[in-house]
Amino acid sequence: MHPFFPRPTQLAQNWIAQILRPGDVAIDATLGNGNDALFLARCVGPNGKVHGFDVQAAALCTSTELFEKNQIPQDQYSWHLLSHTEMQQVVTAPVRAVMFNLGYLPREDHNVITQSTETLLALEAACSLIDRGGIITIVCYPGHAGGDAETAEVIAWADKQGAAWHVVVYEKRATLRKAPILIAMQKKGADT
Ligand SMILES: C[S@@+](CC[C@H](N)C(=O)[O-])C[C@H]1O[C@@H](n2cnc3c(N)ncnc32)[C@H](O)[C@@H]1O
Repeated sequence: MHPFFPRPTQLAQNWIAQILRPGDVAIDATLGNGNDALFLARCVGPNGKVHGFDVQAAALCTSTELFEKNQIPQDQYSWHLLSHTEMQQVVTAPVRAVMFNLGYLPREDHNVITQSTETLLALEAACSLIDRGGIITIVCYPGHAGGDAETAEVIAWADKQGAAWHVVVYEKRATLRKAPILIAMQKKGADT
C-alpha cells in the first residue's frame, strides 16, 4: 500500500484510537490471532474491557498466548467461543468500539470464513450495543471467494442505516486484485 494511504486494517485502528478512552468497553467481533484485540486492550487500558468472539477454539488460544506475552491482565479481556451474532447474550451496552475483520485466518482453515447472513445479524447486534459517538469498523475482502458478495451486502446494509450514523467507505481503486475495503460507522451523538 502507498505509505500515505494506510491499509484498511491500519486505518481502522487509527480511527478507533481517536474514539476509545481509558476504561471503555470494546469488542473484537472476529478475534483471529488477537492482534486487533491487543490494540483495543491498549486503548482501553487496565480499567477497560475487551470482548473477543470467534468460532475457532484455536483463535482463542492464540489470542490468550498473545495477551499473556504482552502482560495484559486477565480481567481486562473475555474471549467467547461463539459466533459474533451472539454478542448481545454476553456483552451489555454501552460499548464504544466494535471491530470486524471479515474473511478467514490466513494460515488456518480457509473454509472457516465469515458468512454474510451472520455478518449482517452481528452488525445489527453491534449497532444495538454501541454508545453514541462510538464506532464500528468492518474490513471486507472482495478478493476472496465469497468475499465479493459479502462486501456488497455489507455496503448495502451500511447505506441503509440512515440518519443515526456517519458512514464512510475507504477503498483503493485500480488494483490488479480487488483490494480490501474498510467501512466505518460512527453513531451520531450530541457532539458528533
Ligand atoms: C481475518 S480473521 C480476523 C483477524 C483478527 N482480527 C486479528 O487481528 O488477527 C477472521 C476471523 O473471523 C472468524 N470468524 C468466522 N466466522 C465467525 C463468526 N460467525 N463469529 C465470529 N468469528 C468468526 C474466523 O474464525 C477468523 O478467525
